[in-house]
Amino acid sequence: MKDSLFIKAAFSEKTERPPVWMMRQAGRFIPQYWEIKNKYSFLEMCKTPEIAADVTMLPVDLLGIDAAILFSDILVTGEAMGGDLDFIQGIGPKFANPVRNAKDIENLSVHCVDKLQYVADAIKVIQERLNGSIPLIGFAGAPFTVMSYLIEGGSSKDFKLTKLFIHNQPELAHQLLAKIAAVTTDYLNLQIAAGVNAVQLFDSWALALSWDDYTEFSHRYNKAIISKLNRKDIPVISFCKGSSVFAPLMAEANPDVISIDWNVDLKDIKQRLPKGIAVQGNLDPHILYAEKHVIKDRIHKLFERMRDENGFIFNLGHGIMPDIPFDHVKYAIDVVKEYRY
Ligand code: CP3
Repeated sequence: MKDSLFIKAAFSEKTERPPVWMMRQAGRFIPQYWEIKNKYSFLEMCKTPEIAADVTMLPVDLLGIDAAILFSDILVTGEAMGGDLDFIQGIGPKFANPVRNAKDIENLSVHCVDKLQYVADAIKVIQERLNGSIPLIGFAGAPFTVMSYLIEGGSSKDFKLTKLFIHNQPELAHQLLAKIAAVTTDYLNLQIAAGVNAVQLFDSWALALSWDDYTEFSHRYNKAIISKLNRKDIPVISFCKGSSVFAPLMAEANPDVISIDWNVDLKDIKQRLPKGIAVQGNLDPHILYAEKHVIKDRIHKLFERMRDENGFIFNLGHGIMPDIPFDHVKYAIDVVKEYRY
């Protein structure tokens, strides 16, 4: 895999064009996803290696991206710890037993990575199917983001309960974060042992935090996780919404790549990061709703800007929305693949 465009760019080596994959590429904007989704629940899909492999392969076969991402969800760690998780159509993830006090935290297990063996099994099936063609990215949710779902019991607009918890009961919050971090470390190392070629830590909702709270309740745990990964030859990507603000701190956690949201000029942020840290990003996903000439124009503009920078993986600033037209995504990927610096 050393010669793949994605791995080279992740390790800040020169490539003839930027490699491309897209967050949430294995999902609902693909018509064929629904043929599978209509037959099984989301968790059944995640937990059945053959089905998880089928969905992982959809964007590989239909879009020709430069890296595959394991089909799963960031909340499976919360479930393995004891969260009663369900994904409700049209609503999203729900934990029926939200974590609100010391007893709830005590009840969560830490030595539970065995419960995630189905992910290791899926990775093996996917790698057989990929057969060395492109790298496979594994992933996990970062402790702060997973904690927000455990506390809120689901998605939240303002993270009111989570923020109250860290502000009023910081010791308990640290106990909970430490438990999630331990599981996340074991889980990513399980994925590496099973054969993924890269890992991405998703701290999607870090954006909700102030600088000080991000430092204390997010960064500190992400750094501890990254420091314990068996990462030889395995690039580590750190993503959060808010990375345009938090990137200098994220760099201190020593990832190989930082995935940048769309609020910032990518070249500007890259030049402010330590040498040897690559960037991933950062097209506003809404551009993919626009007309094709706009899509092409914005991608070319970004690439011209990044022309002299080694260590650039093209991606969106956040995940693809489910109603983005499939042919627009395909078009964007073709534009990238035809490009030469
Ligand atoms: O990137 C990929 O395609 C790989 C698979 C993947 C999924 N979720 C599949 C999924 C990945 C990497 C994730 C990560 C994830 N899950 C994140 C971090 C990424 C981000 O977008 O910030 C978060 C916050 C979650 C939590 C989650 N899972 C939510 C909020 C939802 C439902 C709401 C929504 O619209 O995203 C999910 C469900 C989910 N995870 C779906 C998929 C394909 C949709 C399930 C369905 O078919 O209904």
